[in-house]
Amino acid sequence: MNWGALDRYVKSLIKEAGHHIKHSFFTEIEISSKSSANDLVTNIDREIEQFFIERIRRDFPDHRIMGEEGFGDDIRSLDGIIWFLDPIDGTMNFVHQKRNFAISLGIYIDGIGMLGYVYDVMADDLYSAMKDEGAFLNDIRLPNLKETTIEQAIIGVNASWIAPNRYVDNAPMIDLVTKCRGTRSYGSAALELTHVAAGRVDAYMSMRLSPWDVAGGMIIAHEAGAISSTMSGVRPSLLHQETFIVANASIHTQLLEEFIVLKK
Ligand code: IPD
Ligand code: CA
Ligand code: CA
Repeated sequence: MNWGALDRYVKSLIKEAGHHIKHSFFTEIEISSKSSANDLVTNIDREIEQFFIERIRRDFPDHRIMGEEGFGDDIRSLDGIIWFLDPIDGTMNFVHQKRNFAISLGIYIDGIGMLGYVYDVMADDLYSAMKDEGAFLNDIRLPNLKETTIEQAIIGVNASWIAPNRYVDNAPMIDLVTKCRGTRSYGSAALELTHVAAGRVDAYMSMRLSPWDVAGGMIIAHEAGAISSTMSGVRPSLLHQETFIVANASIHTQLLEEFIVLKK
C-alpha cells in the first residue's frame, strides 16, 4: 500500500464530504432517534457515510469498512485494511448548534493504526496523522505533549460520569474533578481526542465509546505523545463498544490507578 498516496486521497475525500455537510444547512434536515430519545441521527449522517462507502468500494475494493450507520461491512476481525468511519461525530451538536462536530476516520492494517483523521467541518480544521510521522493540524505539525500533573490538568469528562451511574464509582470521579485544574466537555469524542493531541485538554474519558468514535483520533493523539486505552488499561479492541481514556502520557497511569473504579 502506498500510504502517502492514500493520505492525499483521504484528505481530498474528507474535504469533499465536509462541503456536502455545510451545503446540507440549506436543506431540510430529517432528524430521528436511534437507541434512545437523545441518540440522534439525521439523513446527513447516512448520506455522508454512503458517500464515503461508495468511493472506498469503487477505489479500494479489497478494503473493509466499519461505519456507524451500518452501510459498511460486518467486521468481526481486524485482518487486512479496515476504515473506521463516523460520518458525523457529535450529531447532537450538528443538530442543535450547527458546529462542534467532526468527520472521524481511522485506517488500520491488521489492527495497527496507519492513518487517522478528524475534520472539524465548520472550523475547517483537519487533524491528521500517519504512523510514526507525527500529528498535524492543517498540515502543520503539532508539538509533542509536555509533562503535566493532575493538579495542572484540564480533564475532558462528561457530567454523566460524575453523577451516579452504572459503569464507574462516581466518588473517585468527584475527587478527580475537585483535584484537577478544570473540566471540559465538548460533545464529540473525536474532537476531544484532538484537544488532547493539541495539548488543550490533558485527558478525555468516557465509559462507552465505539470503534468509529476513537479510531481516527487515537492515531492522532498517539502521534502527539498521548496514551489511549480502555479503563482497564488495555488496548481498545476496535470491535465493540467499551470504556475509553486518552491522556497525556505523564498522567495516564495515575488517572487509572487513583480515580477510576469500574463497577463489576
Ligand atoms: C457521540 C459523541 C459524544 C459521545 C457519545 C458518542 P455521535 O457520537 O462522540 O461526544 O459522548 O458517546 O456516541 O453519536 O454524535 O456520533
Ligand atoms: Ca460518534
Ligand atoms: Ca456519528
